[in-house]
Amino acid sequence: MTTQIKSIEEYKEHYQRSIENPEKYWEEQARHFYWYEPFERVCEWNFTEPSVKWFLGGKTNITVNCIDRHLATKANQKAIIWEANMPDEEVVSLTYQELHDEVCKCANGLKEIGVQKGDRVVFYMPMVPELAIGVLACARIGAVHSVVFAGFSAQALADRVDDAQANVIICSDFNNRGMKCIPVKQVVDDAMDISCNSVKNVIVYRNTGEEINWSDDTDIDWADLMEKQEPICEPEIMDSEDLLFILYTSGSTGKPKGVVHTVGGYMVYTCYSFKNVFQYKEGDVYWCTADIGWITGHSYIVYGPLLAGATTMMYEGVPTCPDAGRFWAICEKHRVNQFYTAPTAIRALMAQGNEWPGKYDLSSLKVLGSVGEPINEEAWHWYDQYIGKGKAPIVDTWWQTETGGIMLSPLPGITDTKPTYASYPLPGIQPVLVDNEGNLKEGNNVEGLLCIKHPWPSMIRTTYGDHERCKSVYFSLFKNMYFTGDGARRDDQGRIRVIGRVDDVINVSGHRMGTAEVENAINEHPNVIESAVVGYPHDIKGQGIYAFVITQDKELDLEFKDEICAVVRKEIGPIAKPDKIQFTSGLPKTRSGKIMRRILRKIACNEMDQLGDISTLLNPDIVKELIQNRNK
Ligand code: WT7
Repeated sequence: MTTQIKSIEEYKEHYQRSIENPEKYWEEQARHFYWYEPFERVCEWNFTEPSVKWFLGGKTNITVNCIDRHLATKANQKAIIWEANMPDEEVVSLTYQELHDEVCKCANGLKEIGVQKGDRVVFYMPMVPELAIGVLACARIGAVHSVVFAGFSAQALADRVDDAQANVIICSDFNNRGMKCIPVKQVVDDAMDISCNSVKNVIVYRNTGEEINWSDDTDIDWADLMEKQEPICEPEIMDSEDLLFILYTSGSTGKPKGVVHTVGGYMVYTCYSFKNVFQYKEGDVYWCTADIGWITGHSYIVYGPLLAGATTMMYEGVPTCPDAGRFWAICEKHRVNQFYTAPTAIRALMAQGNEWPGKYDLSSLKVLGSVGEPINEEAWHWYDQYIGKGKAPIVDTWWQTETGGIMLSPLPGITDTKPTYASYPLPGIQPVLVDNEGNLKEGNNVEGLLCIKHPWPSMIRTTYGDHERCKSVYFSLFKNMYFTGDGARRDDQGRIRVIGRVDDVINVSGHRMGTAEVENAINEHPNVIESAVVGYPHDIKGQGIYAFVITQDKELDLEFKDEICAVVRKEIGPIAKPDKIQFTSGLPKTRSGKIMRRILRKIACNEMDQLGDISTLLNPDIVKELIQNRNK
């Protein structure tokens, strides 16, 4: 399926063709998939409504392309290899035939409890094969999956379940994360107590088998449900533009929004980008360390690799357990060929010392990927030298939940690499840089806001239940362009470097956080009057969370800070916990009452010389206090 570009000449030729005649280009990429009925039109779009449709009239089922069509040649090839939390636990693998059977059984089980095409199923699971099986089972029967990262709190889970109006939650009993064992089912029970009124059933996969609370009215044991099912399930015939999944992500305002992806375009683009960016070859073992709770896991653990007929690894645990050599031990053990991780993990492991990778045979590695945040130069070189031994090209892949797949990346062995540059667009992708007014910044050596001017198959279709929000966030700022929220620069060779968000979104350890969301959580504390959150550079996390807090009637001590962190953990989860809290008597505001975040950012980043003009503030005196009490 889909092309694999093999040389720089081919890349240039493809790129040219994809720009001159996008419809023809994507028609070629799409026609090799299995379609029950071929598509009648390649693309219909306008960025005003917005309305984007790909492969119109085409009927397919993504699981047929992920699984069934490989059975003729790859029934006994491993589809998924699972490495457990602790190194001495047994490896589990599923061949394409076994994956087929498990997905069909699960699909039949979901049908038995009444799940139908279009229904939403929320997952709150650890990184075990059953998560991939469950997700694919939904796709098999046309149910819409929404995976919620299992680090989110009960409140955050409930918010997502309510927004998606899910009928079913699938969870585990407990999650193993390094030395910790997390009571997942309890979190689901708590979410059900908060709200989740749409949920009829909770399916529980017994991961550890430890005792849990059980409600006979709603709870179903995964094993009981699966046991009696046939390993054959007729795939639901899906329209290209039927919903495949919803994935919640943070924005600069309000609650997280449900990014909607549809079947046909997502299928074509994840397969295409996977094959090209990782240059996957038959027999290779590919490993992406992301969690399926994020888009990276959806596109490049489950769908992309399986569509391409690859062997994809899943790892249950954390990078540093039992020690900082675990990732490299896994690479050695499974002879991993393509390894894909986040800069935050690289920095954390780098900080543990250069000796760790030296203990393992990493000679199988051919391609190293990076994703989720800008990779700093030091981490890039360490990755190149200590992991790739200078022989495995680094693909710094830039993309977003909304883009569905990788947009900018070097092609390993084909285009050049340059530290901190995501470099070149994949064929079919038309990035542009614009100024604040939307004027194109053409030519090289320029900086601007990163936009995409032509649709691509896996782009966001809508934000679930709120199309206006999709329009205002991505398509209203600049006419006829998709706005990414990122700032970028183009170098003298036309390579693109993504610098970071230009909106009120921060990137903490590769996780996207809305500052407003964190502020709303902090404000839940009864003694907090107002707060403002900004990002600041953090050695390991990329960005840390810095909170300025106005309080009343309470002693400003460490205990109070702990309480604030506890509220955030309860409202969102531990990933949103502030790294630094500064109590203050006020916040810098404009005469119209708006918080001047620019000033707070400079204070948090210790860039006092760049505060700019503060004389127009309503309360310029506050700046002195803020600087004086800065939390170092
Ligand atoms: C934001 C999207 C899609 C993968 C996981 C994150 C930042 C992502 C890079 C990169 C610089 C990057 C951007 C983007 N980002 N990859 N290679 N270089 N920045 O998905 O949670 O939707 O976040 O992550 O700021 O907008 P996400």
